[in-house]
Amino acid sequence: MAPLFILLLLLFGQILLSTAIDTINSTTPLSGTQKIVSAGNKFALGFYSPPQSNATSSSSGNYYIAIWYSNIPIQTTVWTATTDVPVSDPATTSFQIATDGNLVLLDQAKNQQLWSTNVSEASNSNSTMAIIRDTGSLELTDASNSSIVYWRSIDYPTNTWLPGGKLGLNKTTGLSQRLVPWKNNADPSPGLFSLELDPNGTTQYFIQWNESITYWTSGPWNGDIFSLVPEMTDGYNYDFRFINNSTESFFIYSMKDDAVLSRFIMDVNGQIKQLTWVPSSQQWILFWSQPLSQCDVYALCGAYGSCSVNALPFCNCIKGYSQKVQSDWDLQDHSGGCKRNVPLQCQTNSTSGQTKPDKFYTMEGR
Ligand SMILES: *[C@@H]1O[C@H](CO)[C@@H](O)[C@H](O)[C@H]1NC(C)=O
Ligand SMILES: *[C@@H]1O[C@H](CO)[C@@H](O)[C@H](O)[C@H]1NC(C)=O
Ligand SMILES: *[C@@H]1O[C@H](CO)[C@@H](O)[C@H](O)[C@H]1NC(C)=O
Ligand SMILES: *[C@@H]1O[C@H](CO)[C@@H](O)[C@H](O)[C@H]1NC(C)=O
Ligand SMILES: *[C@@H]1O[C@H](CO)[C@@H](O)[C@H](O)[C@H]1NC(C)=O
Ligand SMILES: *[C@@H]1O[C@H](CO)[C@@H](O)[C@H](O)[C@H]1NC(C)=O
Ligand SMILES: *[C@@H]1O[C@H](CO)[C@@H](O)[C@H](O)[C@H]1NC(C)=O
Ligand SMILES: *[C@@H]1O[C@H](CO)[C@@H](O)[C@H](O)[C@H]1NC(C)=O
Ligand SMILES: *[C@@H]1O[C@H](CO)[C@@H](O)[C@H](O)[C@H]1NC(C)=O
Ligand SMILES: *[C@@H]1O[C@H](CO)[C@@H](O)[C@H](O)[C@H]1NC(C)=O
Ligand SMILES: *[C@@H]1O[C@H](CO)[C@@H](O)[C@H](O)[C@H]1NC(C)=O
Repeated sequence: MAPLFILLLLLFGQILLSTAIDTINSTTPLSGTQKIVSAGNKFALGFYSPPQSNATSSSSGNYYIAIWYSNIPIQTTVWTATTDVPVSDPATTSFQIATDGNLVLLDQAKNQQLWSTNVSEASNSNSTMAIIRDTGSLELTDASNSSIVYWRSIDYPTNTWLPGGKLGLNKTTGLSQRLVPWKNNADPSPGLFSLELDPNGTTQYFIQWNESITYWTSGPWNGDIFSLVPEMTDGYNYDFRFINNSTESFFIYSMKDDAVLSRFIMDVNGQIKQLTWVPSSQQWILFWSQPLSQCDVYALCGAYGSCSVNALPFCNCIKGYSQKVQSDWDLQDHSGGCKRNVPLQCQTNSTSGQTKPDKFYTMEGR
């Protein structure tokens, strides 16, 4: 009984493995609920719809091309294309190799190209293909030799930094790769925070608000750790490396144990977080986050908001004010801040109607 069961399981597994495809080529575009899965079943790519805040089972009705872990039960994206152009109907939209050899997202109903890998090396639709790798990277490669890579999604990170990905500076263009969080938990379009390597060429990372105010720095790299991140030394489960030459400078990391799933993510709330998958509890566990105090994130709670690390939620409105956009606050986006419940008397010109005169309240704390 048991051996037969195992045999059947193995056979079934074989069938599943042999039907999972990891490439998109000129004759196999992707649309609707189709997906491609990496050879070792670690990552999948397809249309993804973020869950809404209060109804986790129903989706927002907006779809994005995304890459997620395929071997864990909690759908966790690591990369998204077209974050500012959501797709409403994946059935009439196709992720395909275009006639110029680029990988594109095409709205077939409007015959409109929504996104492209934009590389010039590709020449026609039979010259390239796209492959999803076990590293979580989507690659546009030569159709006859997949070792010749024209474009890698891992070089264009969104909110997640995966092992094997570079996070640094292209010295030719002066452009740095940036980790940018989602706007809120249901919307992958870019939020206000960003993490990047110092564009001036030092080895420290900055986190900024609105590309202008720096509210956290890692301190320079000393070869082992970032100076302001001393906790990196104890039992660290990664290998970090800094590479610097005339064309580029970047950090890259790998896991000491390849079987461990781990990722860095710029969180909606402006913190950089390192999460590791714990199989025994089937959950992502937070190992590390910076800035350490949630309230050290610049302007986290918006105008007239107050932040308290000792309270959940962190953000509240000060007395006499309420959330400007409640639905954004529900999705962890507090940037809209708060508004006065009652206008000031001096703003309304009216002497009647309002019973209590304007006055100041004392706010405790810092
Ligand atoms: C595209 O891939 C499919 C299966 O993955 C294969 O059967 C087909 O021959 C490929 N087409 C081209 C043009 O290489
Ligand atoms: C979610 O909650 C808001 C109020 O907070 C409500 O207006 C909205 O209808 C709810 N959405 C769903 C899908 O339940
Ligand atoms: C591709 O190029 C077009 C036009 O130059 C630009 O609008 C678009 O943002 C580029 N897409 C990507 C993914 O870089
Ligand atoms: C691509 O290959 C297909 C089948 O092999 C062929 O019919 C088509 O003409 C080719 N397209 C180009 C642009 O070479
Ligand atoms: C594929 O490309 C790689 C890198 O350019 C090269 O080393 C290899 O020999 C090529 N393989 C074939 C079969 O052409
Ligand atoms: C830097 O950017 C230029 C222009 O996009 C590109 O040609 C070059 O390959 C990039 N360099 C590196 C090291 O990625
Ligand atoms: C980079 O250097 C310039 C000129 O020295 C300086 O004005 C700027 O503030 C520096 N930028 C950062 C992010 O340190
Ligand atoms: C971010 O900065 C730009 C100018 O660089 C400004 O127009 C915009 O209002 C700022 N955003 C917020 C939320 O303050
Ligand atoms: C810089 O380093 C990268 C990664 O090791 C390498 O691919 C590239 O060829 C180097 N560039 C130069 C000019 O040495
Ligand atoms: C990186 O290398 C350049 C020379 O290619 C050097 O001038 C610069 O100081 C180096 N930067 C760091 C942080 O090591
Ligand atoms: C208050 O009165 C001034 C002068 O009459 C007028 O310009 C202003 O618009 C009024 N403000 C409001 C909020 O009604």
